[in-house]
Amino acid sequence: MRIDAISIFADYFQALDLSLLGKAQASGILDFKAHDLRDYTHDKHKTVDDTPYGGGAGMLMKPEPWGEAFDDILSDDLNQTDDRPVIIFTSPAGEVFKQATAHELAQRKHLVFACGRYEGIDQRVVEYAATKGEVRLISIGDYVLNGGEVAAIAMIEAIARLVPGVIGNAESLIEESHSDGLLEYPSYTKPSVWRGLEVPPVLLSGNHAAIAKWRHDQQVERTRQVRPDLLDE
Ligand code: ADE
Repeated sequence: MRIDAISIFADYFQALDLSLLGKAQASGILDFKAHDLRDYTHDKHKTVDDTPYGGGAGMLMKPEPWGEAFDDILSDDLNQTDDRPVIIFTSPAGEVFKQATAHELAQRKHLVFACGRYEGIDQRVVEYAATKGEVRLISIGDYVLNGGEVAAIAMIEAIARLVPGVIGNAESLIEESHSDGLLEYPSYTKPSVWRGLEVPPVLLSGNHAAIAKWRHDQQVERTRQVRPDLLDE
């Protein structure tokens, strides 16, 4: 899978060189590159922002550097009709990213994350991107970050770990929170008694059916208490 990210703070993405995603890059399963938007400017100050038409607070990102960045990064996709690239604009005004979104995007060949800063990006950039690929505006939750980089990193990690070969033990993907619409059950390891706190006896019973039932009950109860909204979906 190929993933590109465009940002004025490309260094943020060094976090993706660590751990399992770093290994996936080294082995070639994941081809990730962060691009500095300022590399697509031509003035001395490498300007990427300007004041909004119609007035208003703050600065907006100018369209020209974004256009050049998309032309460059998506030039190899031109002849691809079967699987268009997906261009994701990180935005608190977008659809909310869910585990289902991660599964959907993990099936695609090429993702491009466009990380805005300031008060956002000139809307024509979104229109232009739609001529180059499938556009999605995605938020990671109902709060506002200073820019899209942290949101993009969170999404890339959630997506890339679903790509076959990225996680050594694929079974661990099956029984985790959100994989079946419920939160994960609580887990325990040795010792069986720690500081006077005991592991639930059913887990030591060797009765697999009883263990499976206990775990499922715990999932439902936990979800009911912490995230009742998930039970309505
Ligand atoms: N940029 C700023 N806030 C964001 C959010 N919640 N999700 C995605 N991108 C953002």
